[in-house]
This record gives sequence, structure tokens and C-alpha cells, in this order.
Amino acid sequence: MAGIGTPTKRLDGPAKVTGAAHYGGTDVLIAKPAYGVLVTSAIARGRIAAIDEAPAHAVKGVIGVFTHKNIGAIEGGKTFDGGGYMGTSIAPMASDEIQHDGQIVALVVGETFEAAREGAHRLTVKYEARPPSAGFDSRGSRTVAGTDASKKHQDPKVGDAEAAFTSAPVKIDVHYETATEHHNPMELFTTTCAWANGKLTVWESSQNMWGVKNGLAKQLGIKPDDVHAVSPFVGGAFGSRGSLTQRTAIVARAAQALDRPIKLMTTRDQGFTIATYRAETRHRIRLGAGRDGKLVSISLEGEEVTSRPDPYMVAGTSSTTKLYASPNVYSKVSIVQADRNTPGFMRSPPETPYVYALECAMDELAYALSMDPVELRRINDTLTDPIKGMPFTSRSLMACFDQAGAAFGWNKRTRAPRSMQDGDWLVGWGTAATMYPANIAACAARVSLYPDGRARVQVASHEIGQGIYTVSALVAGDKLGIAPDRVTVEVGDSSLPPAPVSGGSNSTASVSNAIAKACDEILEKRAKGANGTIEVYAENIPEGAPQNSHEMMHEGKPAFVRGEKNVRFAFGAQFVEVRVHRLTGEIRVPRAVGAFAAGRIVNPITAKSQLMGGMIWGLSAALHEATEIDRQAARYTNKDLAEYLMPVHADIGEIDVILVPEEDRLVNPLGIKGIGELGNVGMNAAVANAVFHATGVRVRHIPIRLEELISGPSA
Ligand code: MOS
Repeated sequence: MAGIGTPTKRLDGPAKVTGAAHYGGTDVLIAKPAYGVLVTSAIARGRIAAIDEAPAHAVKGVIGVFTHKNIGAIEGGKTFDGGGYMGTSIAPMASDEIQHDGQIVALVVGETFEAAREGAHRLTVKYEARPPSAGFDSRGSRTVAGTDASKKHQDPKVGDAEAAFTSAPVKIDVHYETATEHHNPMELFTTTCAWANGKLTVWESSQNMWGVKNGLAKQLGIKPDDVHAVSPFVGGAFGSRGSLTQRTAIVARAAQALDRPIKLMTTRDQGFTIATYRAETRHRIRLGAGRDGKLVSISLEGEEVTSRPDPYMVAGTSSTTKLYASPNVYSKVSIVQADRNTPGFMRSPPETPYVYALECAMDELAYALSMDPVELRRINDTLTDPIKGMPFTSRSLMACFDQAGAAFGWNKRTRAPRSMQDGDWLVGWGTAATMYPANIAACAARVSLYPDGRARVQVASHEIGQGIYTVSALVAGDKLGIAPDRVTVEVGDSSLPPAPVSGGSNSTASVSNAIAKACDEILEKRAKGANGTIEVYAENIPEGAPQNSHEMMHEGKPAFVRGEKNVRFAFGAQFVEVRVHRLTGEIRVPRAVGAFAAGRIVNPITAKSQLMGGMIWGLSAALHEATEIDRQAARYTNKDLAEYLMPVHADIGEIDVILVPEEDRLVNPLGIKGIGELGNVGMNAAVANAVFHATGVRVRHIPIRLEELISGPSA
């Protein structure tokens, strides 16, 4: 019997490859919608002085022009971090104020997409511009301590890191930077809204069905039950669809005013400014160690850019302060407020930039100690969190290093930089640890067992590519003793039982444990003699979840477990080979090996795909992706897939994913840790460390591009 842990091909595969799968932007079942096209701001700061609508109205087929003057009441709403649902609290079209480049200023609606687009192009907007701040080092930007910006923020610390650093025999004191990045999901940010009898249906790809239902209702001043959100498949999300964007309520209001369903089509470049992104970060890492390699002081400081009103912080020190043993740990996160759109979740939001900086600094420390980087990690491995001394529910970091290292052939590495040349190619091998919190949140599910031995699972979770359809069928099949293809799974609809946002790699753990609970109740009922169709609705409130988890879940807010007695993380180790051309600086990555321990793996096939995708994403951040900013105008300049670099097949070599067995009886009843973001986190540093090993050039920012490698060693 195929059950949990059985490699299973994705059950939604045929629908995806035959086009039967419906995404937010594909043909929703609406007869004759009108089409909407957005007009976005050409300046980053100032106000709209005048809008001339006449040229837009003059376009044949244009049936509506909506601006701040006539869109009607929309509550801007609080950000996700601030206890609301929104990616930004900046409410466009609420006034004439412009707070960032690409802010929505108008929605033009036409009988056809072409008419709407023509009308949008002809709409004339006059601005009164003021000089904006683009980000770091810009005039007018403001630096605020994380603890001052947000009541929730904490800077973990223990001991006296400053004193311990001063007296440490071996010291590393380095600065690292990461670039601005945008998710660029394949599927654009489209929305279709249709009203009937005061009720709104919205087709929009989302990672948070119950968030859309509750958040949009709040924005529009209607009851949550009057919003029906539909998103059976998501064409890429990576965090960009975890919070609500401001576009949705605007489309809903326009559809209401025109009494017509409206389908909004946005462009690739609008996606850079109407949704969230990862802002650039800066880090100062100080490591003090004894000559034996034991860390005596870890100091982790980070600065992140955000918008003026929203103190969005990824604050990855919550994780990096727990990676290695040290009696003295200091951390501090600050935000830099500028005239930018509000950043937000982007694949492994907290850990990615912060683990990158720490794991590169660890590589530097290994060189300073003339020690193997894997051995340095082994010496500083810990089974308790250095801040509070709480145990990890399980931690298999070194098992991951050992298995991935063996598969990679790490013992054949020679330590000196530039020591492994192959003709004109400088060969470099690098490694880094990866970590991600093992999140779980309150989740509900309805399971029906039919007399013919089929079953149905209903849960308002999200198919964001990770394979939730297949995982859900495997768990229910396992529990009920039937084959997974006998289980019908329904997700991606707000009329289904509430599930948490599919973010923070929590979905498989949250959803599986809820399904298991419902199935257990079915089995109990059957044991007591129930027959015919047995249907159970169950809510799983995990141990350690907030008191008001039930309410939070029904409000579309994730009730995450915050470990009080233990800390919960998945770990992994990543090894990368790069080849850098001696003369041109061209960087190639022929192979990478990652080993990951994440508790019980429900479906090894989709798990490997996810981890592989994560590794490619991390490689991409290390070598390719960066959003460039015109610093005078505070505008993004490469807002398209031609100039925003992402790897293609030719950029990716062999990627080997090893699943390291790990049993965790504490993390949740099924012992599942999420893997959606784990594969990504360590890759940035592993690639960067390999580039140093190849070239002897320590580039302390990502992405690393060839122009930095053509001038020879500088380290
Ligand atoms: Mo993920 S960035 O938490 O969707």
C-alpha cells in the first residue's frame, strides 16, 4: 500500500500538462468579462497634479476610468506583519499622494483587453515630483532600529559578544551585501472579480485563500462570507502571493461600479511594484574563535531597506543566532526607510540573506584557522540553542554534511585557493549549511470516506507547485488504508475548511496533520460501527499554537506554533563546484550536492523536486538575479525577463538531492518538517565560497558577476 513516504508521481501532473489546470489568470468561467489595465506612477515621490481622462474615454471600447477621485471607499488595511493581510499599507488611489515608483494611479476598463490597454496608454497624468530616496546611502532615507520599528521584533543575544570578540585569538570582521530581487513568478498578477447579489467572487492566484476572503472583505466593508476566493493552481508564488496586494480591492470596486465582471491583466513590469519583493540587505559579521576553532563570539548585524510607512523586516538573526554554539552572541537588525514599495516575503525571507553572510564569514574563519570548513562546523555544532539553551527537537546538520560531502567527494579538495585548476578553468569547491524553521500552524480539513472505498479531502490550502494535492492524497490514503489515486483532493477555494497561508514552509506539516486527525476520527467512527459515507471535519490546533488559534484560523491569520520548550528547524548541507575561466571570469556551476534532514518526508519525488528548485533559486541569487535601481529616480530599471537575469537550462548542471532520514517525535505528530525554502538558503554562500576557492577573490556581495573576477586575486 502506497502511503506516507512512498515516492509518488504528482497526481495533478496530467491536469498541468494538458492545460486542464486552471490558474488565476487563465480562462475563468465568466461569460464576457470586461478587461482592466492598470496605469502606474512614473515618479517615486510627490503627488498627482492632474489627470486628463478625456483621451482615454475617447478610445472606442473604453467603458470606465477609475482614479483616486472615483474608485470609492477601500480600506488600505494593515500589513501581514502588522496583524493584517496586506503586502503594503500604502493605499494607492486613496489620495493624490505618490509614495513609490510604479504605484497604481488608475484602472482603465474596456470591452476588450486591447481597448483597455489603449485607454491606459492615453490617460494623461501630470505629477508634481519631489526628490525621492532610493535606499541605502540616499539622502532622506532614515535608519531605525528594528526594536524601535516593531514591538514584535527582538534581537537575540546572550553573554558579552563585544568583550569576547576583543580578546579572541582569531577574528573575522566582514561586511556582506545582497541585492534587491523580485519573485517574477511565471504567472502574472492577474485578478478577476465578479459580483452577484452582493457577493463577490475573486479568481486570483493566492497562497492564502482565507486571507483573501477575510482581508478583502475588510477592505471592502462586507462580510467575509460574501467573498469567495478561487485559486486551484498557482503559477508560481515564492511569497509574492502570501499577502494581499492593493490591486484586488480596486478591481472589485470597479466591477461593482460598472456592474460587470472585470478581468485585470497586469504586465511583467507592473509586477515589480504592485506586489512585494526582497529588498537589498547589508550585514556586518564578527566571529571570534579560539585556535581550536571553537567560536567564543558571534555578532550578527543586518540592515534592510523598506518603505516609509511599513517596517517590513526579514530579520534572519532569529535563525542565524541559533546555528552555532557560542557563549557570546550579539545581534541587531535595523531598517532603512526609503521611497520604495514595501518589500515582503520572498522564498526563505529571513534566512536567505542572513545565512548567506554568516556562512561566507564561517568560510573566511576556516581559512583564517587553516581548517577544513566542514570541520569548523562540526566543532561548533550544537544540540541546544545558544541563546536560551533550549534543545532542538532534532538536528541532523552534521549527518547532512557527512552524506553530502561523501557524495560530492569533498575529501579530494585541496584547500588553497586557485589550487584546483583544469586548463584555463579555475575549479572551486565550496560548502555551506542551510537551515529553515519547521513551522506548523492550526489547520482544518474535511475528509469523507465513501462506501466504495474512495475518499475525498477538502482543505483550503494551496497548490503552489510543491505538490499539496499529492501529499494530501498520500496522507489520507495512508491513514484510511486506500491507494492515493482513490482520494480526491480539493484545495484552493475559500469555501473549503480554513488552512494557513502557504508560506514559511508550513503547508505540508499543517495540512497533513489536520488530514490525519480527521482520518483518525473517521477510523474511530468506523470502529464504533458507523457505515455508509463517513464525513469528518477536524481542526488541528498543534501543541504550542496561540490560545486564540481557532479564531485566527477563521480570520485567515496563521496560528504558528512558537516553540516554548524546544526549537524546531530543518537543516541541510550544500556543496558546489564552480569553474571560473582564468581569462574571461565566466562562472559555471557544473554540479551541486545538497543533503537535507527534514523529519518525515511525505513524498520523496515532490520533495526532491522542491529541494532541487530551491537549490537552483539559491544559485540564481548568487550569480544571476538583481533588480537594478536608478538611484536618482528611485525606480527599478530592469523590469522585464530580458534584463532581470535568471538561470536557463544551460546555467544549471547536475543537481543531486539527498534526503537524510530523520525521525522527530517532538515537532508534530506526523514528524514532518517543511522543505519549501530549505534548499535555497545555503546555496548563496556555498556558491560564493566556491568562487573564492576557485579564484582567491572574496566577493562580499551577491550576485557575483564575471566583471569582479577578471582582475586576479585580491584577498
Ligand atoms: Mo514563502 S516566501 O514564506 O511563501
